[in-house]
Amino acid sequence: MKQYLLVTDLDHTLVGDDVATQVLNQRLEAERDRFCFVYATGRSYASTRNLMKEKQLLEPDYLIAGVGSEVYQGHCLDSTWAELMSANWNRSAIAALAEEFSALKPQSDGEQNPWKISYFLQPELAAEVISKLEKEIAKAGFFAQIIYSSDRDLDILPKRGNKGKAVTYLQKRLNIQSEAAVVCGDSGNDISLFEQEACGVIVGNAQPELLKWYRESGKNNHYLARASHAWGMLEGIKYFWGIE
Ligand code: GLC
Ligand code: MG
Repeated sequence: MKQYLLVTDLDHTLVGDDVATQVLNQRLEAERDRFCFVYATGRSYASTRNLMKEKQLLEPDYLIAGVGSEVYQGHCLDSTWAELMSANWNRSAIAALAEEFSALKPQSDGEQNPWKISYFLQPELAAEVISKLEKEIAKAGFFAQIIYSSDRDLDILPKRGNKGKAVTYLQKRLNIQSEAAVVCGDSGNDISLFEQEACGVIVGNAQPELLKWYRESGKNNHYLARASHAWGMLEGIKYFWGIE
C-alpha cells in the first residue's frame, strides 16, 4: 500500500546535481513500496525517457509530461486525461492566433504535442506579448492558458491541464491525502504544482518567477529549501515527513 505521493519536476530540481540525484534515488529505492513516485516535467515523453537513461533516474509510477498536458503510466498515455485535454480545445486555431506574434519563436517539433503549443519568447518582450496574447485568446473564446518559465519558454495548454491539475487528478485516483503528498519544483511551470493543496518544496536554486510567486502567494504548506536541486528535495521531505 502506497502511503506517500512524491511528485518532482526534473530539470533543475531532481536533475542538476548528479550526486544529489543518486543519493535521493538510493533513499527512495530503500522505501520504494511506501511511495507513489511521479515525475512532472515540461519535457516531451521521448525527451524525458532520454534524460531518465542519461541520469539513471528511477522508473516512476506515473509520468506527467509536456507541462501536464500528458499523463503516462509506464509507456501508456492515460486516455481519460487525454479526453479531458481535448474537450473545448482547438489547437490549430490557437496556433494560428499565436503565429501573428512575431516575437514568438516556435520550439522544435519534438516539444509540441496535441495539447501543448510551445514557443521561445525573450524576457524583455514577455509582459507585453503575454498580455496581448491572453486578450486575443479570451476574445476568441478559446479555453487555453499561457505558462511562461525561465525567462524563455512559453507554453499554451488547455485550461484544464497543467502539472498541478494532473497531480490532483492522480492524487484523487490514488486516494492520497494532501498531507501525504509532496510536490517539488524550481520554475514557472511548477507554480501550478504549488497551487494545489499538497505540501510544496521549492528548491534553493529556484527561478525568480517562482520565488516571486512564493513571496506573494506562498502558504504554510510551502517550504523554501536552503539547499539546491535534489539536496533541497531531501531537505523538504525531511521538513514535511521527518524522513531522512
Ligand atoms: C521544457 C520543455 C519545453 C517547455 C519548458 C517550460 O523545457 O521541453 O517545451 O516550454 O519545459 O515548460
Ligand atoms: Mg525545472
